[in-house]
Amino acid sequence: MKKVDITEQLEYIEKVKEINDGKNLKYYILTMGCQLNENDSEKICGMLEEMNYSKTEEMKEAGLIIFNTCCVRENAEERLFGKLGEVKKQREERGAIIAIGGCMMQEDHIVEKIKQSYQYDVIFGTHTLHKFPEDLYNAIINEKRITDIIDIEGEIIEGLPIKRDNNIKASVTIMNGCNNFCSYCIVPYVRGRERSRQAEDILDEVRQLAKQGYKEITLLGQNVNSYMVEENKKGNNSPINTFAKLLTEINQISGIEKIRFISPHPKDFTDDVIEAIRDCEKVSKLVHLPLQSGSTNVLKVMNRKYTKEQYLNLVEKMKQQIPNVTFSTDIIVGFPGETEEDFEDTLDVVRKVGFEQIFMFIYSRRVGTPGDKMENQIPEEIKHQRFDRLKKLYEDSVSENNKKYIGRTEEILVEGYSKNNENLLTGRTDSNKVVVFEGKKDLIGKMVNIKIISEHMWYLKGEICK
Ligand code: SAH
Ligand code: SF4
Ligand code: F3S
Repeated sequence: MKKVDITEQLEYIEKVKEINDGKNLKYYILTMGCQLNENDSEKICGMLEEMNYSKTEEMKEAGLIIFNTCCVRENAEERLFGKLGEVKKQREERGAIIAIGGCMMQEDHIVEKIKQSYQYDVIFGTHTLHKFPEDLYNAIINEKRITDIIDIEGEIIEGLPIKRDNNIKASVTIMNGCNNFCSYCIVPYVRGRERSRQAEDILDEVRQLAKQGYKEITLLGQNVNSYMVEENKKGNNSPINTFAKLLTEINQISGIEKIRFISPHPKDFTDDVIEAIRDCEKVSKLVHLPLQSGSTNVLKVMNRKYTKEQYLNLVEKMKQQIPNVTFSTDIIVGFPGETEEDFEDTLDVVRKVGFEQIFMFIYSRRVGTPGDKMENQIPEEIKHQRFDRLKKLYEDSVSENNKKYIGRTEEILVEGYSKNNENLLTGRTDSNKVVVFEGKKDLIGKMVNIKIISEHMWYLKGEICK
């Protein structure tokens, strides 16, 4: 896959920096999507800081306001329109520059709507993120609206500056795009086709992070276990050409204590990945395994390419092969044509697997996807009732499931002070459960052994092992 030359963009960064000299300008950024979207925001922040903008959490103070959008469900889109109404005043009264980027900008009907009815200065998409310096420069110099969207398969961008939100945990995008076209999902249309970064570039980034003191790495992609699959078809010659090999390599980087990844696809969960999770001591034994539906019929229409039984067999295999494995998942309720019986199948899988965490979604029609064109849409009321039933089943299991932790000793990366109680430190178990405990500040960023003493639904309490 061709790498994009960003030299010109680095020059634009310098040009905007000159314009901003002595002005003490601030930027405000709102990240509205998933972790990939967050990682893109970190790159936008990186470019802006190089241009001498400094970050503010107050929109009112900002000379530049950026929305990094998401369109995976309708509520994400509605949120943007609400915000665009709010910023109108900032632009008219103070001359604040408004930039809108991200997945939603790859949808033609949305860009049209914004052009017609809202105020903005720059619109950029997922394939033009790296051109943000040039677009911003042109908007400032020419005082005109810039729309920079391209609809390409996508290329690989390396070398953009990045300003990370956290100094202990970092996410690293290993691949972009998606080839799966699940029939409910907009992501393949707005993120382009699958393309993987070269392993050496990823390893360099992780080594650099380790050197800077980062302890936990989350590898990101829409379908991480098909890492390099497309490149291998085209004659890739890197020896690190599978996800399992990549995990094994990252596991050897000293300084990194914990490796997580999202999301794998059940259909691509090959044995070598299972073995790598089992054998790499730093790789979290929590597997996020998106189920979407427990009904074989629904899964077929969703184009997920596995059945209920195949999913359950995969879970069973991992339970046998990976000591202390746990699972989390994503589930959609109310997909077109979902019958009561189909929904019962979903509940059945939830009972059988015993997920640590479930991200539950009500099906949302996305323009341009096959699901949107299906005639047997489920009434809102039934969707909501099913959502509530699933939520209850899950919530009823949380406290029972938490009891297994009591008395156990967990090795935990100390992330900082608890948001709800500033006297307590916090971190997460390998299975991603929040743990709070008493301890001194100098433990932040270190791995400590914590004995779990009690459970409180959404968090566990523990004490440092002497
Ligand atoms: N590539 C990842 C995540 C994609 S988006 C994966 O395959 O797991 C995250 C989650 O949003 C999906 O797993 C799915 O559960 C949910 N989602 C995607 N499209 C949706 C839609 N149209 N309505 C409701 N939920 C949706
Ligand atoms: Fe969407 Fe399916 Fe691709 Fe995930 S795998 S991003 S759900 S199309
Ligand atoms: Fe992520 Fe939303 Fe785009 S979930 S990939 S930001 S559509």
